[in-house]
Amino acid sequence: MKVTVVGAGNVGATCANCIAGKDIVNEVVLVDIKEGVSEGKALDLWQSSPINMYDTRIKGVTNDYKATADSEVVVITSGLPRKPGMSRDDLISTNAGIVKSVTENIVKYSPNATIIIVSNPLDVMCYCAFLASKFPSSKVFGMAGILDTARYRSFIAEELNVSPKDIQALLLGGHGDTMVPLPRYTTVCGIPVTELIDADKLNAIIERTKVGGGELVKLMGTSAWYAPGAAAAQMVEAIVRDSKRVFPVCAMLNGEYGMKDIYLGVPVVLGKNGIEKILEVKLDKEEKTLLEESAKAVRNVMDVLDNMKMF
Ligand code: NAI
Ligand code: 2OP
Repeated sequence: MKVTVVGAGNVGATCANCIAGKDIVNEVVLVDIKEGVSEGKALDLWQSSPINMYDTRIKGVTNDYKATADSEVVVITSGLPRKPGMSRDDLISTNAGIVKSVTENIVKYSPNATIIIVSNPLDVMCYCAFLASKFPSSKVFGMAGILDTARYRSFIAEELNVSPKDIQALLLGGHGDTMVPLPRYTTVCGIPVTELIDADKLNAIIERTKVGGGELVKLMGTSAWYAPGAAAAQMVEAIVRDSKRVFPVCAMLNGEYGMKDIYLGVPVVLGKNGIEKILEVKLDKEEKTLLEESAKAVRNVMDVLDNMKMF
C-alpha cells in the first residue's frame, strides 16, 4: 500500500515521518516542486528507519507524479504557510492555484485515492480540491479538527495536571478564529470538564484554542508542523487500517447541521472508504449560532475562490 504526501516542507515532511514511524504502509512518496528537497528529506527519513524500527520505504521526487501512481491516500500540504500578521485566508490567492494543479495531477495517476487536504485556508482548499478532483466528497476532506482539539485537550490537561490521553473533546466549524470548541462535549475520563474547571478558566482555554495557530506563528515566524503533521498521519492511519475512528474532520455538508455545499469541521467516522458517516450531535441555541457564524466566515472565503473563476 502506498501513501503520497505532497509538499515536503515542515508539515509534509513531519507527516511522512509520522506515517513511516507507524509502519502501516509499504511506501510513502514525498513530492515537492523544489529540486532535491523531497529526495533529501526522504533519504534522511529512510536513514532513521533502523533506529525507529520501521520497514516503510520512503521515496522523494521533484514534481514527478508518475511515482505517486495508485496511492491509496494522498495528503496535500503544498502551499504557503502564514507569516506573522497574516490570517489563513490571506493565503488563498497563491494556495488555490497550487491545490488545484496538485489535485489534478494526483487524480490523473491515483483515480481511487482518498485525498486529505492540509493547505490553508483549509475549509476552502478542501472545496477547491473537491471541485478539481470531481471525486465524491466522502473521498476529499481536510485535517484541522484533530489539531484544534489536540490544542484544546493539551491546554485542559495542563490546567488540570492530568494526562492529555484522558481528555476527550469535540470542536465544530471552520479552521479559523471562529472555530467552535464545545465544552458540553468535553470530558476528562467521562467527567464533564465543566465540573472540573470553572467557567472563566474554561473560556480562557477556549479563546486560546481559537487563536492557537496564531500563537505559534507569532513565536516562530511561520506556522506549526509537529502537531499538524501528526494529526494528518492519524487520519491516514484510520483510513489504511479501516479502523472507523471518530474524529472531527473538515467535511462537505449535504444537509447535516442544516447546511449544504460547504466544508466545515464536524465529527465523522473514518475508514477505508474515507468519510463513512457524518455524526450529527445536538446543539443548543448558542452553539448553533456560533456554528452559523463560523459557516458565514467560511462562505466569505468561498466567495473569494468563486471570484477567482478557476472552475
Ligand atoms: P512549508 O513552506 O514548510 O512547506 C510547503 C511546501 O510546499 C514547500 O516545500 C513548497 O516547495 C511546496 N510546494 C509549493 N508549491 C508546490 C507545488 N505546486 N507542488 C508541490 N509542492 C509545492 O509550509 P508548511 O509549514 O509545511 O505548511 C504547508 C501548508 O499547510 C500551509 O498552507 C499551511 O498554512 C498549512 N497548514 C495547515 C494546517 C491545518 O491545520 N490544516 C496546520 C499547519 C499548516
Ligand atoms: C495552524 O492552525 C496555521 O492552520 C495552521 O497551525
